[in-house]
Amino acid sequence: MNYSVQFGDLWPSIRVGLLSEQKYGALVNPFASGDRVALQLESLNAKDFVGEAHRASQREAGGSQSDPQVSPPAPGQAPVGTDRPGIPNLRCYTFDRGDVSRFPPARMSQLGVLEYYLMDAASLLPVLALSPQPGDAILDLCAAPGGKTLALLQTGCCQRLTANDISTSRTERLRKVLRSYVPADARGDGRVQVTSGDGRHWGELEADAYDRVLVDVPCTTDRHSLSEEDNNIFTRARNKERQMLPMLQSQLLAAGLLSTRPGGEVVYSTCSLSHLQNEYVVSGAVELLADRYGIGVQVEDLSSFRQLFQNTFSFFPECRVGELVVPHLTANFGPTYFCKLRRLR
Ligand SMILES: C[S@@+](CC[C@H](N)C(=O)[O-])C[C@H]1O[C@@H](n2cnc3c(N)ncnc32)[C@H](O)[C@@H]1O
Repeated sequence: MNYSVQFGDLWPSIRVGLLSEQKYGALVNPFASGDRVALQLESLNAKDFVGEAHRASQREAGGSQSDPQVSPPAPGQAPVGTDRPGIPNLRCYTFDRGDVSRFPPARMSQLGVLEYYLMDAASLLPVLALSPQPGDAILDLCAAPGGKTLALLQTGCCQRLTANDISTSRTERLRKVLRSYVPADARGDGRVQVTSGDGRHWGELEADAYDRVLVDVPCTTDRHSLSEEDNNIFTRARNKERQMLPMLQSQLLAAGLLSTRPGGEVVYSTCSLSHLQNEYVVSGAVELLADRYGIGVQVEDLSSFRQLFQNTFSFFPECRVGELVVPHLTANFGPTYFCKLRRLR
């Protein structure tokens, strides 16, 4: 009832998408033999939507039309940093619109790490929006089970990465993902720190410390909530918790902004369609930072994403701030909401 009001004529199509099988993307693991894996995925007729968007943006800018050369890292080394302005050096394969083929499970490479990570491809957009740059100190405030942490590491840009999640069982899953995809020496040297704390306190724990912060908050996980009975957030027993979500989300976003150095950037994301958990949380946190801390925050324009990735995802065209990928039968990814904020100096 709520979403039919929020989305009007678009709701029936979003609803059918949510009730139908979701599509996945295969995030190529550059710590395995990335180029060989990419060729295998291409032989399945899948396409690297990040690379395609990059080439399209280059064409638009009148730049080189050739494929960017992405060198595979030497065994155990972080991959080469970004060579795509504004788009980190990641490769994620999806099947075309309307093609509902599925990827086979990833195999173990000769280097002892899995060849690709299967995820909702729209979940990569918050990482692309964060756009890590070489040498960045990055905080992933709500990191488990770790798909976005892995993508952040794969950009090769993290000089220091803190991956935090309040749940110890979920941080265990995150450690397992890292072990399965990232060789020990690329995780070592204190470069990656996995912690299990309450993200709401990060502003006091590590103020002004990070160049970029990802705040991928707990939410109503709309697609999952429709199909899973177990521990469903819409059960009566969890009413209070559900009603308190926007408050928790605002506190986490505020903490993420406080942990960012002045001039640094934050991406806020959810897998919910709810305006209350998306745009309203962003506006609330911006107001809170101004009123309580005298800190200015600017919401960045991400509308170029809508154009760049229109062949792969369906976007809701009317977000006041941020961008929202909505499920659609021909491109059944999301929901994913993401919004980029810059902490002013
Ligand atoms: C949407 S999930 C994160 C998904 C993850 N970023 C990924 O890409 O795999 C939200 C996470 O927030 C965590 N969480 C909930 N409350 C938190 C808090 N106060 N501080 C830190 N993490 C929290 C949950 O345990 C959950 O793992």
